[in-house]
Amino acid sequence: MAMRRLSVNPGTAAGKAPASYSILIGKGLVDQAGSLVLPCAPNRKAAVVADGTAWSLHGERLGTSLDGAGIAWRVIVVPPGEGSKTIVRLAAIWDELADFGMTRTDPVIAFGGGVVGDLAGFAAATYLRGIPVIQVPTTLLAQVDSSVGGKTAIDISRGKNLAGAFHQPSAVIVDPGLLDTLPTELWIDGFGEIVKHAAIRDRELFETLAAAKGPESLRDGIEDIVYRNLAIKADVISRDERESGERMILNFGHTIGHAVEAALGYGGLSHGRCVAIGMAAITRNSEALGATEPGTAEALVGALRAVGLPDAIPAGLGAGFDSALALDKKGSGQSITLVLLTRIGECRLVKMPRTEAAPYLRIGR
Ligand SMILES: NC(=O)c1ccc[n+]([C@@H]2O[C@H](COP(=O)([O-])OP(=O)(O)OC[C@H]3O[C@@H](n4cnc5c(N)ncnc54)[C@H](O)[C@@H]3O)[C@@H](O)[C@H]2O)c1
Ligand SMILES: [Zn+2]
Repeated sequence: MAMRRLSVNPGTAAGKAPASYSILIGKGLVDQAGSLVLPCAPNRKAAVVADGTAWSLHGERLGTSLDGAGIAWRVIVVPPGEGSKTIVRLAAIWDELADFGMTRTDPVIAFGGGVVGDLAGFAAATYLRGIPVIQVPTTLLAQVDSSVGGKTAIDISRGKNLAGAFHQPSAVIVDPGLLDTLPTELWIDGFGEIVKHAAIRDRELFETLAAAKGPESLRDGIEDIVYRNLAIKADVISRDERESGERMILNFGHTIGHAVEAALGYGGLSHGRCVAIGMAAITRNSEALGATEPGTAEALVGALRAVGLPDAIPAGLGAGFDSALALDKKGSGQSITLVLLTRIGECRLVKMPRTEAAPYLRIGR
């Protein structure tokens, strides 16, 4: 079985000591998780925080592999869904980590999608003021995006992801074979961030996506697609070490996308679909304003449709969208940084006063 490796050097931008970590990618890697985790588990002990569905489908293989490496482990199963990213669930995990006698050097293994990655990551960031976390993502979105970068969070009553911490993983183990059980709806959702990565950085990957005969046709080639996405994300994050702010290019499509997501009420339309809509909208606008090469929006929309993603603004967003946009936390004061495509495969950051940004962020016809 082939295993590929990428290295991330997150640097000091997130306020953490510089430490690099590896992303390991390969089908079937879950069966080697034990030996891969071992360098991060000096006491041969680890706590698994697992999504309920991922655990029932694939947990036995992870457990067998940990057993094989002589690692003592316990699993904390989390009910599937965003509703688990709460302070109550977090506190229950802290208690279980304490009951299991986890010490500073014993790692948490996050086994699930973005929900478990964020929740287990935040638990690891806070328990004993921080213990190691190893991400083992099981959804497409988590494999190409959320498992890398060190952002962890829970939701609070006032909004999504409002309490959290930067906590870089000690390793990320990515087994695209785990995605075989992912239903089409969730499969498609992961392509929002994949199209994003391709549009801002990888024209060749973009052409592959644009030529797809529907999302299911991409199952066979997913290992390569996941690898290329992680290579882009790892590179962008590592460059931000020089504090260039380049990491912000990963927000492409997210300003409008987040506002659509919030206006519909979280859960109304999935994150990947909202990002797709956001990318299409800002690119149509920036092309009309002369900031993007003609034809780019059409190409982008073509790729979104080829992978089953929407591009049209849902009807009836109205005032909810405007207020969500005004509240977007990514702006700093009166200015906002937009990510605009120059052409497919290239983008740039443009910082401007919020008032001037309005034409780029409009969703009207
Ligand atoms: N930290 C970051 O940088 C970052 C980035 C993007 C999103 N996120 C967060 O990620 C979350 C969304 O992640 P998600 O889309 O992975 O959702 P999720 O974690 O809720 O998983 C989606 C569903 O897939 C199921 N599932 C997981 N693995 C499976 C498998 N192998 N086969 C079949 N079903 C499986 C789960 O049970 C769940 O019902 C949000 O909370 C979001 O805020 C974080
Ligand atoms: Zn996103």
